Amino acid sequence: MLQTKSSSQAIPLDVQQVVKKYPQGGTVVHALDGVSLSVEPGEFVAIMGASGSGKSTLLHAMAGLIDVDAGRVLVAGQDLSQLADGPLTRFRRDNLGIVFQAYNLIPSLSAEDNIRLPAPKSLGKQLDATVDELFERFGMTARRHHKPGALSGGEQQRIAIARALICNPTILLADEPTGSLDSVTGTQICELLRDLVDNQGRSIVMVTHEPHVAMWADRICVLKDGTNLAELQTDGRRDPQTVAQQYQEALGAETVA
Ligand SMILES: Nc1ncnc2c1ncn2[C@@H]1O[C@H](COP(=O)(O)OP(=O)(O)OP(=O)(O)O)[C@@H](O)[C@H]1O
Ligand SMILES: [Mg+2]
Repeated sequence: MLQTKSSSQAIPLDVQQVVKKYPQGGTVVHALDGVSLSVEPGEFVAIMGASGSGKSTLLHAMAGLIDVDAGRVLVAGQDLSQLADGPLTRFRRDNLGIVFQAYNLIPSLSAEDNIRLPAPKSLGKQLDATVDELFERFGMTARRHHKPGALSGGEQQRIAIARALICNPTILLADEPTGSLDSVTGTQICELLRDLVDNQGRSIVMVTHEPHVAMWADRICVLKDGTNLAELQTDGRRDPQTVAQQYQEALGAETVA
């Protein structure tokens, strides 16, 4: 049975006062301006905020896909800035699962080969068992040999999530994972993510614009202009109206993105 890594005592994710600046025209955009966020084992955190508030930049910083200008990102206690390119790539493979809105599957490979792609061959028979378990858990066994073009959006996202889990990561990071899906299929993906937290003790960070998606998380971190604006508790209510209202209150007079 695929279980989360339990050897490390460190919390899965600790973002400390992270700053990321981009030059734009003659000025500098502070995409992140001192953001902090930590995620406990078995916690599901959503990140909300208006377009341009820094959500994707934060997720990319958590994944070590961009260098930050100040602050630290620790994954399972490891400061990502202390790793050179090669070790960072291996660390990312072993500790971080990343899912994007656009699935990013390889079209010429079957669903199964897409899932297997990041896994080191040294896993051998253990890898076969993990692949079987993921297909079973995600209800995708009958689609195993299909290529992405023959799968629905929801099925492709399931395969992308399975691929992100193949190395048993410490934390799963998802950037608008339901953003390309209709609401029924999006809800199925949310249920699947929730199940990974509730029944496997996984830790998840998910970026979303949608209250009916964010409500699946335990806690919602609201960003504004690259800073922490508010933290909302969902208390397991799964109530989109309450989340939308809390979010709007947090944003004050601003229009909801
Ligand atoms: N590679 C880059 N080069 C220059 N500016 C960037 C880059 N990436 C992001 N930015 C800027 O940083 C800010 C935050 O961008 P980011 O993509 O994190 O926003 P977001 O909250 O994910 O928005 P959206 O909801 O539209 O996806 C924006 O002002 C954006 O223009
Ligand atoms: Mg974004």
